[in-house]
Amino acid sequence: MAYSAKVMEHFAHPRNVGEMKDFSGVGEVGNPKCGDIMRMYIKVENNIITDVSFMTFGCGAAIATSSMATELIKGKPIEEALKLTNKAVMVALDGLPPVKIHCSVLAEQAIKAAVSDYYRRIGIDPVPIVGELEECEACEVDLGE
Ligand code: FES
Repeated sequence: MAYSAKVMEHFAHPRNVGEMKDFSGVGEVGNPKCGDIMRMYIKVENNIITDVSFMTFGCGAAIATSSMATELIKGKPIEEALKLTNKAVMVALDGLPPVKIHCSVLAEQAIKAAVSDYYRRIGIDPVPIVGELEECEACEVDLGE
């Protein structure tokens, strides 16, 4: 199994790791495939994600994809952050080995969970905007790990 230089770099030096005290929304998701957990914090000002951080009990691929995902949504409007897919994160990292694709879904789903929490806190029903949080397609496939 080979990891790209970018994956290794984000794994070794993950960006935006840690707890956030003054968050606007926080979301936690679990990966049904491996049992790992991801928590994502966002700070929102004027509809812009001004800060983001994550903590995970996840593997190196989960750390690298979350690190990259936080970099990609920081400073962006919420609508843009919601469009970020795990595939786009993987492309930004120059790919992941197939058996690790399910790890990348944690970050995407944690962002959606954090945004949903933010909307709930300000009294907006998140479902019409964010949708129901569903299991990823990759996680439904037996990856033979
Ligand atoms: Fe669990 Fe990668 S997130 S093995």
